[in-house]
Formats: sequence, structure tokens, C-alpha cells
Amino acid sequence: MFDMTEDRIKRLDAEARRILQLNDRAGYTVPTSGLYPYQWNWDSAFAALGFAQFDIDRGWSELETLMAGQWENGMVPHIQFHVDDPGYFPGAGIWGTDDAIGKGPGRVPSSGISQPPVAASFALRCYQLDEGAGLERLRALYPRLAAFHRWFFAHRQTADGAMVVTHPWEAGRDNAPDWDSAMAGITPEGVQPYTRRDTGHVNPAMRPTKDDYDRYIWLVQFGRDRKWDQEKLAAENPFRVADPTMTFTLMRACRDLKIIAEVLGEDQAEISGWIERLESGAASLWNEETGAYDSRNEATGEFNHCVTNASFLCWWAGLRDDRSLTVLNRVLDQVRYGVPSFDPEHEKFDGLRYWRGPVWGIMNMMIATGLKEAGHTVEAERIRAATVALISENGFAEYFDPQDGTPAGGGTFTWTAAIWLGWATPSLEEAE
Ligand code: DGY
Repeated sequence: MFDMTEDRIKRLDAEARRILQLNDRAGYTVPTSGLYPYQWNWDSAFAALGFAQFDIDRGWSELETLMAGQWENGMVPHIQFHVDDPGYFPGAGIWGTDDAIGKGPGRVPSSGISQPPVAASFALRCYQLDEGAGLERLRALYPRLAAFHRWFFAHRQTADGAMVVTHPWEAGRDNAPDWDSAMAGITPEGVQPYTRRDTGHVNPAMRPTKDDYDRYIWLVQFGRDRKWDQEKLAAENPFRVADPTMTFTLMRACRDLKIIAEVLGEDQAEISGWIERLESGAASLWNEETGAYDSRNEATGEFNHCVTNASFLCWWAGLRDDRSLTVLNRVLDQVRYGVPSFDPEHEKFDGLRYWRGPVWGIMNMMIATGLKEAGHTVEAERIRAATVALISENGFAEYFDPQDGTPAGGGTFTWTAAIWLGWATPSLEEAE
């Protein structure tokens, strides 16, 4: 299936390992130096998947460092600021979580929001590669993972059981069109003067606009002014969007946590209840008009009519619902390298701008893995082959133009290297 010599594959594998080691800060991994100089939540969990392929101890320790930053209330923050780096904005001082409600004493400085909870899924992967020896490490992680999931049900659940994001950064899909309607409801008055750092590292055409950024910072100030009190934020935050990324990654993570509980001989009843809630939540995100799962602005109750790569995480979540296969195939037919982060037919599609069009390796990994598990091997292999071509031709960039493969955002990127090693590389086939 892959038109590559063994030597070329070996060189790409070696490069992926080199990138993980390059971004390793002894215990945690940065997504890429410069642009993202700290530990990001879901990036770190993907890093564990990559390390696990060649250094299982480092795979475990990545997850252990990530979960050590957990707040007392169970939240695992989206950024942990282990060191100070003036090249990044907004840093720990802007988030102001030192006296945050629910944080607890002695925690590493962090942001005040979370990110898609994929840690349990990659803890299970580590264990599958390290059965027996890894049992005690899995056992030590389990209560933290369970508390993290419990926090979502306490603070991010809609009446239907879907999961909301309270800041575009919480979804990880920072400038996806899903947030446009909720962002339009914010007038970013009172934003203190700031200097963006991201556009000093990366071409501004590949990054969110200033209008978006003003609102990102406004939302950070809004949370900080309320000491990140989740009760207050639930009542007052104008930005609450039910999100397929959160709903589907948590559903998968709960299914994986249930397998972990079984391995450990723990009671699974609470987790089964969570899965049921999420299934009902997912049903509420089905948009008949787009023929795909959608996000919903909780302020208005309206769908956003966005077909994104998050829409296709339904199979990764374990749903056996094939209604969106038609739209998936239509979207794949429209680009050279799928899955694009936004519908190429939509007027807002922008092939280079972050989450408004580019293709992302981690999303492809989750979508294709889910498709394969659901028996859709043709689509799964198509997405994997596109990812192999994309990376082998264009390197381990953060994201890529889905039409011509132009590498975009940060280079030598941790999670792109990680999904290469843990999913895409043709050498995995030979090992099978
Ligand atoms: C950024 O700074 O662009 C990050 O995505 C925030 O998490």
C-alpha cells in the first residue's frame, strides 16, 4: 500500500524518535520549542503514545507528569507552566490561577481551563505494550484519571449529556468556525494591552485573527476575575459550546477507563453511567441538515452547521452510527490529503489557517482508528495512506494544507511524530 523503501521508512521513524527526544524536557514534552514551550494536556498524552513505541518508561512518565498537575477538584489544566518562558503569551501571570478555587496548594502554575481528555486512552495503550510490568503504574494513574473524568461531568455537562467547552482553547481546535457564533456574542471590552507571541514564531496567515485573539484574552480575564470558580463560570460565561471533540474524546476515554477498571478489578458502575450519559449527549449533537455531528451554541441552543474533523470522531468514541460516512467521503474526495479540519465546500474554508481547513495528524489518527474498529477499512486506510504521504513528503509539521500539503504552524512537532510512530508508520504493519 505504501510506495516507500524500507530505508526511507526507517529514516522517518528515526526522525520521529529524534523529534520526541528533542522536545523532551526531562519528564514532560513540549509540543515544539518556541511556539509552545510548556506542557500541553492532550499534546502530552499523544507524546506518551509516541514514546511508548520505543521507550515505555518515558511513555508512562509523560502521563505521570501530566496527571501530577491535576487540580484538587479533578481538572487537569490545558497548560502546565513548568518553567518561565517570555517567548509565550499568555503566561502563568495572565491566567492568574494561584488562588483559583478548586486548584489546591502546591500545584504547578497552570492555565484555568482543560483540554480534550485523551490521557486514559493512551494510558491503556501504554499498558497494552507493557502488560504485567506496567500494572502498578496503571493502578497509580487510575484514581487521577477517574477524577479527571468526574470533573467533566460535574462542570462541563449540558442537560442532554454532551460536553461543553468554555473557551475555544479548551477544545484544542482554537479558531474552528464552531466558535464563531459564540465569539460574536462577546464584545472584548476591557482587554488589557497585550503582545501576541505566536505570530512572531509563525506566519500570521496560519494563525487565529486579532478579533479571535482579543476574545481569547477577554475570556481568560473573565475566568481570572472569578477565580476560576466553576459555579460562577457556569452561570455567567457567555461562551459555552457543546462540542463533538470533548464529547467524543471523553466517551472514548471513558470506554478505555472501563477497560482499565476491569484490568484492575475496580468497580465499573460509575463509568458505565458516564458512557450512557455521553451517548445521550452525542445523540443531541446529530445535525440532520449537515448529515454529521455538530457543535451547538448553548446560549442560543442553535447548531453551528459546521462539518469539521471533530464531527468524524464518532467512531473513535465507539459509536456504531454510519450516518456521516457519506459526508466524510464527500469531504475526502475534495482534498488531496484528508481529513480537512473544515468542510472544503464552505465559504469559510481556509486551507492554511489552523483549524479552519488544515489537516492534522492526531485527528486523522483518531478518526481512522475508529473507522477501522467499526469495520470501515477502506476509509480508514485511505486516511492513513494520506497521512503517510503527507508526512513523508512534507515533514513533521504541526498541520498541513489539505490541498497541496504545505507544512504549516510549528515544525518538528511532537504529536505529529507521535502519531507517526504509534499509528501511521508502515513499519507497524511489518511488526504485525
Ligand atoms: C495557543 O497559544 O495558541 C494555544 O493553542 C493555546 O492553548
